[in-house]
Amino acid sequence: MPIDVAARVIANRPLSSDYNVLALAAPAIAAAASPGQFVMLKAGAGSNPLLRRPFSVFEILRDPGGQPVGLSILSKRIGVSTTLLYDAREGQRIDCLGPLGRPFTVVDPPSEAWMIAGGVGLAPFATLAAALRAREVRSTLFYGARRAAELFYLDFFRELGVELVLTTEDGSLGERGRVVAPLDRRLAGLSPADTVMLYACGPEGMLAATARTAMKHGRPCEVSVERIMSCGLGGCYSCVVPMRGEDGAAHHVRSCIAGPVLRGDQIQWG
Ligand SMILES: Cc1cc2nc3c(=O)[nH]c(=O)nc-3n(C[C@H](O)[C@H](O)[C@H](O)COP(=O)(O)OP(=O)(O)OC[C@H]3O[C@@H](n4cnc5c(N)ncnc54)[C@H](O)[C@@H]3O)c2cc1C
Ligand code: FES
Repeated sequence: MPIDVAARVIANRPLSSDYNVLALAAPAIAAAASPGQFVMLKAGAGSNPLLRRPFSVFEILRDPGGQPVGLSILSKRIGVSTTLLYDAREGQRIDCLGPLGRPFTVVDPPSEAWMIAGGVGLAPFATLAAALRAREVRSTLFYGARRAAELFYLDFFRELGVELVLTTEDGSLGERGRVVAPLDRRLAGLSPADTVMLYACGPEGMLAATARTAMKHGRPCEVSVERIMSCGLGGCYSCVVPMRGEDGAAHHVRSCIAGPVLRGDQIQWG
């Protein structure tokens, strides 16, 4: 069962003029959360915004004894809620419901794990990288952004032993271009005996390209989809995604409860 709390803001760290990391005191949600799950946040007390908005659980925050004390979210400012979250003050309360949705399938060795993130799509991979590290899975993060200043938390992933493959659209760090290009090359270089699981989160075009690249190379791929979500609980159907089942039959799923993590080869990409 999801837990609903008026979570106190522990800290709010701006990473740039648009991105911030907001730490919330929500120990019960943090203790129950798995990589890829999300919370619904009501960023303001009034009626604007009227509805909560979905955010991936970014980090599980722990006390010195290792007990979960809260969670953080990585937010990109694009509208009313994310502006309020960017400006949130320490001590303020934010309604937080979670954990929600279906998490990633965390693999075990000898499988490798390759995470593919575009922009704020980095958000679910901090907890996933920590879970993979705990299982001693060899992990790589393919991480793309518009420019170097929008690539965050690189040392965090390096400290977890994650290999980084970086791309920027302007070439200011890593390879110039889109993140799927080095992914495609690496997949082409794998031996058939090597097992790898792909996990992707980012803009829809990047997810579609990643899923198609995975299919081309016959590799499994889970994607975390970002639909507009009004309730997060399966009640409003604002978040449906067209899918094709094992038998080829078309159907729709509510991505807040069947996802946000879905099999890339089962989505009907536009
Ligand atoms: C499962 C899930 C996890 C997410 N995790 C994160 C996260 O970790 N960090 C983060 O910054 N964002 C995340 N998002 C996206 C986040 O929910 C939206 O950025 C947020 O709802 C915007 O709220 P707002 O009130 O600021 O914008 P609004 O004022 O509601 O909208 C501003 C503009 O953005 C458009 N828009 C809003 N949401 C979406 C969307 N999901 N897809 C396409 N266009 C949209 C609106 O149509 C409008 O044009 C996630 C979304 C989902 C579904
Ligand atoms: S967000 Fe309401 S059904 Fe998915």
